[in-house]
Amino acid sequence: MSKEAATCTVSMTETEILEEIATIRNKLGEKVFILGHHYQRDNIIRFADKTGDSFGLSKYVAENVKSPYIIFCGVHFMAETADILTDDSKTVILPDLGAGCTRADMATLYQVEKCWNILQKASSEKIIPVTYVNSAAEIKAFCGRHGGTVCTSANAEKILKWALNQGDKALFLPDQHLGRNTGYKMGIPLEKMSVYDPIEENGGASLEEYANSRIILWQGFCSVHMNFLPQNVDQMRKKYPDINILVHPECTFETVEKSDYNGSTSRIIKLIEEAPAGSKWAIGTEQHLVDRLKNEYPDKFIVSLAPFECQCATMYRIDPEHLLRSLVSLDNGEVINQISVPESIAIDAKTALDKMLEIS
Ligand code: 13P
Ligand code: SF4
Repeated sequence: MSKEAATCTVSMTETEILEEIATIRNKLGEKVFILGHHYQRDNIIRFADKTGDSFGLSKYVAENVKSPYIIFCGVHFMAETADILTDDSKTVILPDLGAGCTRADMATLYQVEKCWNILQKASSEKIIPVTYVNSAAEIKAFCGRHGGTVCTSANAEKILKWALNQGDKALFLPDQHLGRNTGYKMGIPLEKMSVYDPIEENGGASLEEYANSRIILWQGFCSVHMNFLPQNVDQMRKKYPDINILVHPECTFETVEKSDYNGSTSRIIKLIEEAPAGSKWAIGTEQHLVDRLKNEYPDKFIVSLAPFECQCATMYRIDPEHLLRSLVSLDNGEVINQISVPESIAIDAKTALDKMLEIS
């Protein structure tokens, strides 16, 4: 395909686009490696050399992949992590720069620094910042600079325990639900966890409340996982008394408390893989993953926990057309939509990521 044709994918049918992706993918061979997060649509996943959860993909690429060009079919913060963990010989590409994440955008460096100053005023106790890996690189860098680290939904408990051993309190960014669900699992009562809302004057709670908290939770959330409500669990159990409820820990505390299991996208897949034939599952996570599991395991009964489709609009921005444009540009010797984290941020962010790998 010529450079001109690459800008005219609009006139191609989906089948032609998929065929063209396969052809150019083949032609580029080991020059390119395609990563696909579990929430990507099937017509992207079929071209992925490796599928996985957010952190698993970046770790894999840093440790195993020799290809100079990495096309990350996921969202912006994931491509940033891949860039931070890989050396300068690798170029990370996000097929559509509009594939951001509303939750990651809920914590900016300016807001976090303001919060940090307020918390220092509230108490002289030592606070360790911990950010969920699903956050912007500058927030990871903040944690790296302040003796903190990063966690994933799989190791959050281990990391928060470490943080509370290092200091007296933890500031958990940017997903309040993962922080609250994990803190409660560790035995920290809800009244020992307060919320810092960057939109509110001084975070919305009193200095005394922050001083009395073990974990200060940033008021951030995933708009997809907020859709799974506790009443959906009740409705599901009423309809199918023997159903298993399996949710992502980005769901609210009330929903996670009512569920039978919770875990990262990789854990969700593993639990379904290992479940006996005939078992019933209602899953509270992004629709594309639920649908894929339903298709892959027809011997199990699988439904979404919500009564309507819960898709991630930004994940969905990565479509075959954008993947084709990334491949065509590489074939033409050009890189479009490279994700390159500035060195000044990447160094501190890597400190935080390396600390997590050391602890877990
Ligand atoms: P994991 O794949 O790490 O479980 O993350 C879920 C998510 O919301 C990614 O955007
Ligand atoms: Fe962000 Fe939620 Fe979409 Fe993941 S699923 S990219 S956390 S909005």
